[in-house]
Amino acid sequence: MRSSYSYQGALEASERINWRVEDIIGGEKRLDFSKPFMPESLAQVQGLKFLSSEEQRVLNQIRGHEYLAMFGLVEEFILPYVVDHARPVLSGDDYHVRALLQFAGEEAKHIHLFKRFRQEFETGFGSKCEFIGPAQEVRKFVLSHSPLGVAIAILHSEWITLRHYIEGVKENQDLDSQFKSLLKHHWLEESQHTKMDTLIVEEVAGTATEKEIDQAFQEYGEIGAFIDEGSKQQAEFNTEAFIAATARKLSKTERQEMTDAILKGMRWTYLGTGMTHPNFLATVEKIKPAAKTQIQTMAPAFC
Ligand SMILES: [Fe+2]
Ligand SMILES: [Fe+2]
Repeated sequence: MRSSYSYQGALEASERINWRVEDIIGGEKRLDFSKPFMPESLAQVQGLKFLSSEEQRVLNQIRGHEYLAMFGLVEEFILPYVVDHARPVLSGDDYHVRALLQFAGEEAKHIHLFKRFRQEFETGFGSKCEFIGPAQEVRKFVLSHSPLGVAIAILHSEWITLRHYIEGVKENQDLDSQFKSLLKHHWLEESQHTKMDTLIVEEVAGTATEKEIDQAFQEYGEIGAFIDEGSKQQAEFNTEAFIAATARKLSKTERQEMTDAILKGMRWTYLGTGMTHPNFLATVEKIKPAAKTQIQTMAPAFC
């Protein structure tokens, strides 16, 4: 059974929203480093009792920088995927073509948006925060998988951005208003992407053999494992960035505790919020019910 989403509906909603990067960041619109950037549900820094509230805020902001860089990275493989998916249907239904090109255009804008926020962050934060990559290598790895495997991974990525905003940001009055605005504007457009990507997954799965579907879910697992490996390295980078920013001396145990907390926060942010998302799981179930059970069995390790 197909979803009730349509390309025409997604395009109409998207055209109504339509914001510019320049409306959100730059000029008077600056990050306020006296505020946290990320909701605690994602940042997960307040359990580190050996940190002062100021130090917790610095670590929260480092996780904010990581979020900007991570989404920048994810958008880098979504954009070529959507463009490739659009090309064979260019002479087909007008709404279909326009909706896909709008989708691609928005992801290109999001890449720009996340880059601009990273520039603002780097200007205001005062010390360097390293990030895994390079993006080209990640893109090459992800796009080496089958179209259905990648589409499922992208669908996961689209749904998590909605969940991050709705559950942790929308009603949160403590966060920096610029960072909150970034998450809100991203959410507004991602809301259409979840619908279009559901349609893409359904289309690609509709012509796939059972073997191809099995392979696609195995690949979804591989892409998840790849993100998890990257997160382990990134958790180390974030701890280093915290030490550089605060000049705080951490004992071996404190350092380990910090790296573990960051990794736990990253696992929930990038993996758990998707693996337990009811709408993501509903699409998975329609394609292969056993895959839903398998994802649900694996999910607690990332929650
Ligand atoms: Fe995006
Ligand atoms: Fe998106």
